[in-house]
Amino acid sequence: MEIDSKQWRWIWDGVCFCRELLGVGGIMITAAALLGLSNYYNKHYYYYWADDADQGKGKRKRPVRVYMDGCFDLMHYGHANALRQAKSLGDVLVVGVVSDQEIVANKGLAPVLSMEERLTLVGGLKWVDQVIPNAPYEINETFMHTLFNEYKIDYIIHGDDPCLLPDGTDAYALAKKAGRYKQIKRTEGVSTTDILGRILSSLRGAEVEKGHADASICEQNHSGGNTQADSCGSIKSHLSHFLPTSRRIVQFSNGKGPGPNARVVYIDGVFDLFHAGHVEILRSAKQLGDFLLVGIHSDQTVSHHRGSHPIMHLHERSLSVLACRYVDEVIIGAPREVTQDMITTFNISVVVHGTVAEGSSCNGEVDPYATPKSMGIFQTIMSPKIITSASIARRIMDNHEAYKKRNLKKTASEYKYYAEKKFVSGD
Ligand SMILES: *[C@@H]1O[C@H](CO)[C@@H](O)[C@H](O)[C@H]1NC(C)=O
Ligand SMILES: *[C@@H]1O[C@H](CO)[C@@H](O)[C@H](O)[C@H]1NC(C)=O
Ligand SMILES: *[C@@H]1O[C@H](CO)[C@@H](O)[C@H](O)[C@H]1NC(C)=O
Repeated sequence: MEIDSKQWRWIWDGVCFCRELLGVGGIMITAAALLGLSNYYNKHYYYYWADDADQGKGKRKRPVRVYMDGCFDLMHYGHANALRQAKSLGDVLVVGVVSDQEIVANKGLAPVLSMEERLTLVGGLKWVDQVIPNAPYEINETFMHTLFNEYKIDYIIHGDDPCLLPDGTDAYALAKKAGRYKQIKRTEGVSTTDILGRILSSLRGAEVEKGHADASICEQNHSGGNTQADSCGSIKSHLSHFLPTSRRIVQFSNGKGPGPNARVVYIDGVFDLFHAGHVEILRSAKQLGDFLLVGIHSDQTVSHHRGSHPIMHLHERSLSVLACRYVDEVIIGAPREVTQDMITTFNISVVVHGTVAEGSSCNGEVDPYATPKSMGIFQTIMSPKIITSASIARRIMDNHEAYKKRNLKKTASEYKYYAEKKFVSGD
């Protein structure tokens, strides 16, 4: 089968339609319905088609379709990097986002983010072509054949960390047996456990400040011998394992500047705990021009204005923003004030700011947007979602006992991983 990517049209919040291949779309609806997803289908069934998906890689052949699934809770650049690697093993990347019920059944705890938020995040990644909502955790015989026959999947991809079902069996055993399994390397340095730990320990910090430290939130567990895990997810684990390299930034970058006569849009912010609200505001900002430049405030700038450090540090936040499909370029450590010099340097046509913005200026501070306002190029855009990094952190804090328990278990296994890890080649 020959597919010309130009025949696909991508319509946000709608359905991609393709004259030649409507049949495929029809089958997909059926598959979604079979899985009981029809309510999500109407609203959230995204179809992306990368413009250059099948260019260069054997134009005459059917594109290789790969599938990767995950919970994608608290989206971070580790997830983004896994999907980037998965995409590199094929031409079209289909991503299954595991349902809330399946996460509860297999992990014993509901995800922090709703299915809708997780879909927005995954769909917002530049490497993702198609999203399957409410995917199962285990790829059983039935689902595997749905993937092969209806979604035309060639390979099922997973990281090199074992993914075990509650009964101890490998969730990917069937795909391996079928010879349709490919593995990617785990992304070092970040995990949902690590981020939860950081949030929980910032909670501890806040409570200590308020003068009623809750000892039960973080008690060292010495009885476990040399496992360094404590019940708040271990302070030590918050020393990030992430080593930002120039290569990783290049891998996440588009590597292109604005084209001739491009209208450059500038938006700045903290972009901590990259969430669905960020994806939506970036999408709205991109619609105002041809090239979206995102300024990411440095850790010092953030702590100066907010009085606390962001949960994710500058390089981590930069990678999360760079992974977003609407973003063309980031300024790693942008100044808070948008100066005339910046506007000239980057030929910025419009400076935008969301209605739901975090770290809004304290009284008495110079308006950071005074220059673009005086030039008449400042624009406020409606934030499509009222989610903030703080509201996400609050969800975790409100349920901290449960997350604390989860993390205690997970942190120990992450320690073991980092203690025993060996060099593995690959990206
Ligand atoms: C296989 O997985 C699908 C999707 O989760 C589920 O609906 C079905 O009942 C499962 N089949 C078997 C035999 O377990
Ligand atoms: C401390 O760790 C030991 C061994 O890992 C475990 O049995 C015990 O339940 C833990 N205690 C607390 C308070 O978490
Ligand atoms: C600067 O941006 C404007 C659009 O706002 C565009 O017309 C112009 O060509 C750009 N300048 C250059 C040198 O690209």
